Amino acid sequence: MKSADKIETGVFDRKTMMLIYHMLNKGIISSLDYPISTGKEADVFRATTGAKFRKDGEFAAMKIFRIETANFIHMSDYLLNDPRFTRVRHSKREIINAWCQKEFKNLDICRRANVPAPKPFVFDKNVLLMEFIGEEGVPDSTLKQVGSESPEEDCETILGYVRKLYRVGFVHADLSEFNILMHGYPKPVPYLIDIGQGVLLGHPKSEEFLRRDVVNVLRYFKGYGVKRDPDEVLEWVKG
Ligand SMILES: Nc1ncnc2c1ncn2[C@@H]1O[C@H](COP(=O)(O)OP(=O)(O)O)[C@@H](O)[C@H]1O
Ligand SMILES: [Mg+2]
Repeated sequence: MKSADKIETGVFDRKTMMLIYHMLNKGIISSLDYPISTGKEADVFRATTGAKFRKDGEFAAMKIFRIETANFIHMSDYLLNDPRFTRVRHSKREIINAWCQKEFKNLDICRRANVPAPKPFVFDKNVLLMEFIGEEGVPDSTLKQVGSESPEEDCETILGYVRKLYRVGFVHADLSEFNILMHGYPKPVPYLIDIGQGVLLGHPKSEEFLRRDVVNVLRYFKGYGVKRDPDEVLEWVKG
């Protein structure tokens, strides 16, 4: 790796900087506003959409997958078992780019299944631009952060999403209170996010992931006194 390709600013590597620069130049975004979240594998920023893309002044969320610190061994495992991504990828960069494309496609599956999730706008390499889930420019909080006002109902809603997705042959595979944003007031609607690891039903571990998703949701709402039996819920999801 050339030294210029390594992390330059401590935030983005050079190629990622160029991608963002191109998105600004093409008028897809007019600015990258501030980081909403910085993680080990990806950073999420609020961006303002540009003149060439949707209405000027509207916000978007830009998820930038980190090339340096991403857990690409774990990622390649998910990709190898996905019929949508059969080409063998060699470099870390290629694997992460495929991962970004996978999150884009998975968000699209949610939209088509009528499950609330950010609408995917565009992706390029390791950069994904999607609908901003927030109010007046302020990003919404996760279920983990704000908790649930109507636990019975929210639990039912989220399990309903799991069922809808299963019916179109898809499992989120990382569902928890951390990857759900509560959008809207006074009655917040759960939105699913962080869906790059989602798998199609043909994946060898899809059933295991489905059970884990359901167990995670039930575990969270159990804290609110919601009592549901995981096996019964699973039967309902698959019914
Ligand atoms: N479309 C979005 N709109 C607003 N905030 C978002 C959006 N997507 C992600 N976020 C924020 O960024 C955080 C991290 O995003 P996530 O996709 O869960 O990445 P990771 O967990 O891999 O770092 C979320 O918890 C949420 O606060
Ligand atoms: Mg997350």
